[in-house]
Amino acid sequence: MKLAIMGAMPEEIEPLLEYFKNYKTIEYAKNKFYFVEYRNQEIVIAYSKIGKVNATITAATLIEKFGCQKLLFSGVAGAISRDLKIGDLVIATALAQHDLDITAFGHPHGYVPEGSVFEKADQDLIKIAKEVALQKDILLKETTIATGDQFICDVQKKEWIEDTFGAGALEMEGAAVALTCNALNIPFFILRSISDAADMDASFSFDEFLKSSAKVSADFIISMIDKIVDKS
Ligand code: ADE
Repeated sequence: MKLAIMGAMPEEIEPLLEYFKNYKTIEYAKNKFYFVEYRNQEIVIAYSKIGKVNATITAATLIEKFGCQKLLFSGVAGAISRDLKIGDLVIATALAQHDLDITAFGHPHGYVPEGSVFEKADQDLIKIAKEVALQKDILLKETTIATGDQFICDVQKKEWIEDTFGAGALEMEGAAVALTCNALNIPFFILRSISDAADMDASFSFDEFLKSSAKVSADFIISMIDKIVDKS
């Protein structure tokens, strides 16, 4: 079984490439895909570049071209919940696109035609994450994550996202990965570490904490890979 690990930015996958060290690189669709063999487990790693369209292209390529059968996403997010602090880890139980709007036709915000508002993440991968967290005494928070093609740095906007979707964190790729994986029947898992509070200071906070929070997330994903390999 081939695994995919995806990030959106170089900083989100660099700790993984540093850890796995030996990899083969293939260029495809204006992107780089890094092939690793780790404890007899084939892993393909890629960063998509920011946004829902890029994330969709990369997730679909990992699955359809490179044959990945499970996908783990690692990266950073803006906090909505007040109890989420910089570096905290959140896992998505469900994801929604906060900027998809066909309310003019009577649908709720985020409604995907012939689909739904929320895409659910794979329960088995969530269970593995909880086992890792318990073993390593790491606090994991579960929440709905909202995704959109906007960097949110506005308290009113984030409160609207919280009220509309019940989301605890927001980012720019997760729901696109979720929709792609669910359409193709591929179990997926989205992990994020908080880099900012999606408020007026968000861009400064993001620049300051992108690397450190991305590493927190990547380190946890490595532990999950070990657990997946142990179980296989
Ligand atoms: N990813 C990390 N912080 C974010 C923010 N404030 N808005 C959108 N995506 C993010």
